[in-house]
Amino acid sequence: MSAEQEVASATAAMSTDGQASRGSHDAPKPSDPHALIIFGGSGDLAGRKLIPALYNLRQDGLLPDRFAVVGQGRRPMDDASYRTTLLEAASKFSRSGAPEPESWDDFAQSVHYLRGDSSDDEGFDRLTEELPRLEQAHGTGGNRIFYLATQPSLFPEIIRRLGASGLTECPGTCRIVIEKPFGRDLESAEALHAIANSVFDESQVYRIDHYLGKETVQNVLVFRFANSIFEPVWNRRYVSHVQITVAEEVGVEGRGRYYEEAGALRDIMQNHMMQLLAVVAMEPPVDFGADAIRDEKVKVLRALRRMTVADVRKHVVRASYSAGRLNGADVTAYRSEDGVAADSLTETYIAARWFIDSWRWQGVPFYMRTGKRLPKRATEIAIQFRSVPHRLFSDSSPDGVPPNRLVMRIQPNEGISITFEAKQPGPSVRVRPVRMDFGYGQGFAEESPDAYERLLLDVMLGDQTLFIRGDEAEAAWAAVMPVLSAWRFDEGHPLHFYQAGTWGPDAADDLLASDGFRWRRL
Ligand code: BG6
Repeated sequence: MSAEQEVASATAAMSTDGQASRGSHDAPKPSDPHALIIFGGSGDLAGRKLIPALYNLRQDGLLPDRFAVVGQGRRPMDDASYRTTLLEAASKFSRSGAPEPESWDDFAQSVHYLRGDSSDDEGFDRLTEELPRLEQAHGTGGNRIFYLATQPSLFPEIIRRLGASGLTECPGTCRIVIEKPFGRDLESAEALHAIANSVFDESQVYRIDHYLGKETVQNVLVFRFANSIFEPVWNRRYVSHVQITVAEEVGVEGRGRYYEEAGALRDIMQNHMMQLLAVVAMEPPVDFGADAIRDEKVKVLRALRRMTVADVRKHVVRASYSAGRLNGADVTAYRSEDGVAADSLTETYIAARWFIDSWRWQGVPFYMRTGKRLPKRATEIAIQFRSVPHRLFSDSSPDGVPPNRLVMRIQPNEGISITFEAKQPGPSVRVRPVRMDFGYGQGFAEESPDAYERLLLDVMLGDQTLFIRGDEAEAAWAAVMPVLSAWRFDEGHPLHFYQAGTWGPDAADDLLASDGFRWRRL
């Protein structure tokens, strides 16, 4: 049995000192009215995330009194059928369950649909004509938020058309929200940023990586910088290595065509995981302002060691899932999913060893892994500390004395645990690992808002702290570019296979074993 499994059940619960948090209810309500224009308004993101988030904000009293949503999409619908579609989606996907009929009706009055193609003149002409009328009707004062929720390849064209149509000459404030992925490599990311910055000022651009909207990700900063006891050991002297895992049970969920173009590196590692790495590894910012925080994150991303082709072979493992069983059901292989080529080389799993060339982190490996069709959904950051310098108790424990470990559970079962050694009660000195655990669910009285609630609220408030700055996205692309090029041009890069429902290929275990470590069992 591993030391990990053996962690004694003497789990000490941390309390929140009796203080129940008011969470999102402390957030200021935006005082300015707003119109939110969603390109891709009939798409998946609008139904699954944006509308439920807006409705929940409204329920929490956090939507401005005067507010309108204008969804633009290709599907033929009128306002009434659009509202019905959104109600169905919200009932299925909202964290708060089916909306209350009366408050939904009230909310839905402010939701409109304009049929149109965001990449042709007609669609834009209709929007240009109709928007002022709707703004007038809802009294939104000309404050506009344009939300790009279409397929990413349309982003540059929509931004160009927005500029050309004059819609960005907003009578009030004007902001644009861009969903990840920001480009599909460094070059296209630079091109996207150039076009965005030719129409909007950087202060108007809100690039969403929804991981930053997660409470537990924001808490990494609070944990590190609002406590004095962790920071002194948060460095190469005490930390042996860091493991960051984003494991998903789901497969590509009908998005085979998108995923073929993306793969795990572009879909998760370049953005969500690089953000996790940045908040774990950054230096303390001088203040909690958007630029101070983002400056420090950019420094970490720039300090990521650039890999050579040989390094990519040594430090990176890619794999694709084959057919298997998950939760008692048979699941198909990635290569048999709709929209996926039978000889696809797209990775559904990636494991990599990164190094940060800085004083704080020199020589400390940051292992990252992400995959679809893994045995369970779990995202966590594990800080593995070094062993004690002098092993006083090595005879007192059957497995030796394992080093301390701090685990931040980003989702699910959100919380933080610390594993340390304790004396097992009894006449002889026997040392056993025990765990102190803090769970958000028990510690705080209320449910966390969904990431999109927080992020949409921040766009209305004009707070860019939780959004990705252009140079930050580019620094993350620059770090992963050698991997993308090596996979494309270097034949010596095998695509491994793992059975759906398992923890990835053996090669990923070998990656850590070569350093004397192993992946945490989740
Ligand atoms: C998205 C990816 O950005 O994040 C999806 O495109 C992935 O493939 C999703 O499933 C994971 O998000 P979460 O919040 O469920 O961890």
